[in-house]
Amino acid sequence: LLRGVLGARAAELAERVGVAAGARIVVATALVRDGRVLAAQRTRPAALAGRWELPGGSVETGESEDAAVARELREELGADVVACGRLGTDLPIDAGLLRVHLARLRPGSAEPAALEHAAVRWVDAAGLATLDWVDADRAVLPDLCAVLGT
Ligand code: CDP
Repeated sequence: LLRGVLGARAAELAERVGVAAGARIVVATALVRDGRVLAAQRTRPAALAGRWELPGGSVETGESEDAAVARELREELGADVVACGRLGTDLPIDAGLLRVHLARLRPGSAEPAALEHAAVRWVDAAGLATLDWVDADRAVLPDLCAVLGT
């Protein structure tokens, strides 16, 4: 009985914060090196073209979020990265839920390149505020600033 009650309550809470079963999870990656994070400039859709994001994309069915981070950054940047923990809270987006993960380049990885973006740029804490970020990513900037230091 107790489990049933707790289960229903947990489901209700999850629903309220938008984590309904089946909600699409999009991972965004704060790839950090030497006090800088890699920002990537979107090319699509037209409404977001030119704005900056933390690179990432949709988690596939049965895929872990860490694996999605590594796959997306290999596809988008040609880089070999390892995810190393969450940053900030879940952010509601039209597509579902955005989760930011920290990541580092693996030794020997190629330098990240704009294979699917208009440009990529390493930015330090002071530089974060100079970019026109997509709305959802803007919310994580204070946490990111703390990670990068001053
Ligand atoms: O193509 P895929 O679904 O893998 O990924 P995407 O189109 O890059 O991102 C899916 C959705 O998440 C889009 O609506 C993006 O605007 C959003 N997104 C975001 O808000 N911030 C990011 N750092 C990455 C994606």
